[in-house]
Amino acid sequence: MIPAKLRFIRGKALLGGGLAGIVILAAGSAALPGADSGPAERESADPVASNVSRMIQEGRETFRFDTFGNEAFWGDAFKLHQAIAGGRQGGVGPGVSPRTALAVGLKVDLEALPPSLRADLARGQVDLDDPATTLALLKLNAVVGVTGFFDTGGRIRSMGLQCAFCHSTVDDSFAPGIGRRLDGWPNRDLNVGAIVALAPDLTPVTSLLNVSDAAAREVLRSWGPGKFDALLFLDGKAFRPDGKPAATLIPPAFGLAGVNLGTWTGFGSTTYWNAFVANLEMHGSGRFFDPRLKDEQTFPIAAKAGFDNVNNQPDRITGKLAALHFYQLAIPAPKAPGADDPFHFAAQRGKAVFNGQAKCAQCHVPPLFTEPGFNMHTAEEIGIDDFQARRSPAGQYRTAPLRGLFAHEKGGFYHDGRFPTLRAVVDHYDRVFNTGLTEDQKNDLVAYLRTL
Ligand code: HEC
Ligand code: HEC
Repeated sequence: MIPAKLRFIRGKALLGGGLAGIVILAAGSAALPGADSGPAERESADPVASNVSRMIQEGRETFRFDTFGNEAFWGDAFKLHQAIAGGRQGGVGPGVSPRTALAVGLKVDLEALPPSLRADLARGQVDLDDPATTLALLKLNAVVGVTGFFDTGGRIRSMGLQCAFCHSTVDDSFAPGIGRRLDGWPNRDLNVGAIVALAPDLTPVTSLLNVSDAAAREVLRSWGPGKFDALLFLDGKAFRPDGKPAATLIPPAFGLAGVNLGTWTGFGSTTYWNAFVANLEMHGSGRFFDPRLKDEQTFPIAAKAGFDNVNNQPDRITGKLAALHFYQLAIPAPKAPGADDPFHFAAQRGKAVFNGQAKCAQCHVPPLFTEPGFNMHTAEEIGIDDFQARRSPAGQYRTAPLRGLFAHEKGGFYHDGRFPTLRAVVDHYDRVFNTGLTEDQKNDLVAYLRTL
């Protein structure tokens, strides 16, 4: 829920700002029959087209701004807002300045900033070392994926998180970390664990996992940027057998239309996972079913906590899933720079390697770049360990859809980022499949992968 005041400010910012705002407004007016002439009239005659506009507008709103009531968890229980505010603003500790917030990967939505603030920022007249500035940004609803809740005296009283927290970034058009929203792009700068570890009270996590406060903080701080461990709260496994953190990379949430199973280990469809995350990870208030989570072997924590059948009232999630699903599937994979360049011969040669000698297209079937149908493989088939696969009901890995690879090179590739570069991925397949590629062919293949 977003306070009326913030909604107003956001509306104003959208009116003033850029393409994204115009698109939302256009979609909005199309949903009101007779509100506009021309395209709106034509659309109202087509119930499918007007449904698309409405669903996408609603889904975008949910993806960007809906906390599903999870401020009861992140704010009221964790008291994360107090750590952000700092002692001088009525919270605890030093507080989180904008400089610190940007350093842990939080992003600022340029279009939510009024022109006067943009001008002050450009002139260096905004104090980026004062947590009070962070609170002002939260009041403007300008911190991507984070909503502050303020009392009538303007003091922060709680905070909640949105999908955009992890699954959006900005285009840095104003400054590093400040720009227009890029929904669906994984935020590989975001240090989720470091942010959560700021919380003064981790009781909800320590009691769920039955660990000490110090142990919980150690685990959170082990994740590093661009990673989160969604399965920790199901199985309590914080570290892999080799001692490395069990967290996975935040995957892209674009280019998912046509993709059958989602998540690195194929937990379910996109809408399955949306419901899972909103209830079990973000701790919104809603309903969730999955009898597979009763399996005490694989999911000891979830089985004990009853995550297989969650019923929190009021249900602030189920009614939003349809539009959220629509919006998610509508987010296209971004087009790589130079992808259409007719003189990009290396990429053209690389395409032939991908489809031919390297046999990549056997699993990454173009243009989806995952299998049409059942898109799962055993660890053995792709030549890696099965630790993460065994943490899921399917026990396998999902063929990652490769569109927009260039947009998430930071953090590396495969579920845990084990391959730092695309070249390292290609070398891995060369070893596992004996592709016999020459140095030139490998370079061409990488050039092609960057254009997907
Ligand atoms: C704290 C960070 C975080 C937040 C918040 C978050 N996600 Fe995710 N999301 C992840 C991670 C990490 C994964 C990978 C999980 C895995 O495979 O085990 C993921 C996976 C996904 C996937 C699967 C993508 C694919 O490749 O198939 C979808 C879809 C998704 N999230 C949607 C959402 C939606 C919708 C929300 C809001 C309701 C949301 N996420 C909130 C971190 C986050
Ligand atoms: C047997 C099926 C299969 C074949 C053949 C295959 N892949 Fe994959 N690929 C996968 C699976 C499964 C994953 C997901 C691995 C994970 O989650 O850790 C993956 C992941 C990837 C990734 C990482 C994507 C990301 O978001 O991190 C890249 C890049 C990739 N493959 C490229 C290739 C290339 C290039 C080839 C040919 C040399 C190839 N693949 C051949 C199944 C396959």
